[in-house]
Amino acid sequence: MAAENWVFTVTAQTPTNIAVIKYWGKRDEDLILPINDSISVTLDPDHLCTTTSVAVSPDFTHDRMWLNGKEVSLSGGRYQNCLRELRSRASDVEDEKKGIKITKKDWEKLHVHVVSYNNFPTAAGLASSAAGLACLVFSLAKLMNVKEDHSRLSAIARQGSGSACRSLYGGFVKWIMGKEENGSDSIAVQLTDEKHWDDLVIIIAVVSSKQKETSSTSGMRDTVETSMLVEHRAKEVVPKRIIQMEEAIKNRDFPAFARLTCADSNQFHAVCLDTLPPIFYMNDTSHRIISYVEKWNRFEGTPQVAYTFDAGPNAVLISHNRKAAAQLLQRLLFFFPPQSDTDLSSYVIGDKTILQDAG
Ligand code: ADP
Ligand code: DP6
Ligand code: CO
Repeated sequence: MAAENWVFTVTAQTPTNIAVIKYWGKRDEDLILPINDSISVTLDPDHLCTTTSVAVSPDFTHDRMWLNGKEVSLSGGRYQNCLRELRSRASDVEDEKKGIKITKKDWEKLHVHVVSYNNFPTAAGLASSAAGLACLVFSLAKLMNVKEDHSRLSAIARQGSGSACRSLYGGFVKWIMGKEENGSDSIAVQLTDEKHWDDLVIIIAVVSSKQKETSSTSGMRDTVETSMLVEHRAKEVVPKRIIQMEEAIKNRDFPAFARLTCADSNQFHAVCLDTLPPIFYMNDTSHRIISYVEKWNRFEGTPQVAYTFDAGPNAVLISHNRKAAAQLLQRLLFFFPPQSDTDLSSYVIGDKTILQDAG
């Protein structure tokens, strides 16, 4: 190490990802190993993303983190698992200009400070844990000069939050559940890059930005413990859907993609309802959006829009091109006007609607 009072920092930005074939259920809680493969699309980082700055200094006495301006504890097992994995892979860091040299050994004693912001609602079912943990692992890996490729980093991010492993890649990404007990083969792989299907447009309708009552972690734990449907889903339904979804993405087959995406979202929420106590992530507005899209797709004879809802009431709507997206946005604004008093929930569509390219 060099003179005291130095601070060495790294800042990174990571987009969120939305699953089109959902992960819901773990076979190992500690290592975060899922009961099925999943597939997601990574969103454009300009719109929904986490920005994280990490810093190291000999003056820091503890690891500390501030999330959206408030200090939060880093003592949880998941953060600790990520920090341990990264520290064990840290390498020498040298900044000649500042006269800083940190050796591999120094990383065992040095503490880090983390400051992170999500530019979208946290813990509201828009995968903040995915962007957040992927960004944390990525920025710390840069700070500590961890020389691992994205697939190894994805396995570390997975131990922070399962969905986070998919946010290290753009485009369509598959999280392979893996077979190994130690989780070494439970990693994310990129199926196609962001340019492959660039006429897709994703609209996020923020129905409520309130924090959900049941976190994804505890919700899926209850599901695995109590639902009879979830085993059928993981063993019989998802493996077939994964094959069909990969095919639909490869061929840019929007009708097949839309049918699979909607069906998987609905089955995920059915499994939530089959949990004891039942979990209700969607609300009346979410249900009305589904009915509306279903009616529109039926009227057109072929799917124009795909919908998917994560563990929250907010709708992720995917159109097959800009023209269809513009039409969808116009209709949403008409039928679901922002801050309308026709609905009791505080939903906002329009001024918080984010229009962006997929990928
Ligand atoms: P979501 O649907 O938003 O992913 P989850 O229940 O899966 O909701 O996870 C929310 C939790 O993820 C937060 O309570 C927080 O612990 C963690 N998280 C979210 N954003 C960040 C971030 N930027 N950095 C670190 N942890 C984060
Ligand atoms: C519905 O990755 O948030 O968004 O692994 O416990 O952190 P933990 O859960 P998380 O679960 C995401 C569930 C989902 C579907 C998905 O992203 O695949
Ligand atoms: Co999450």
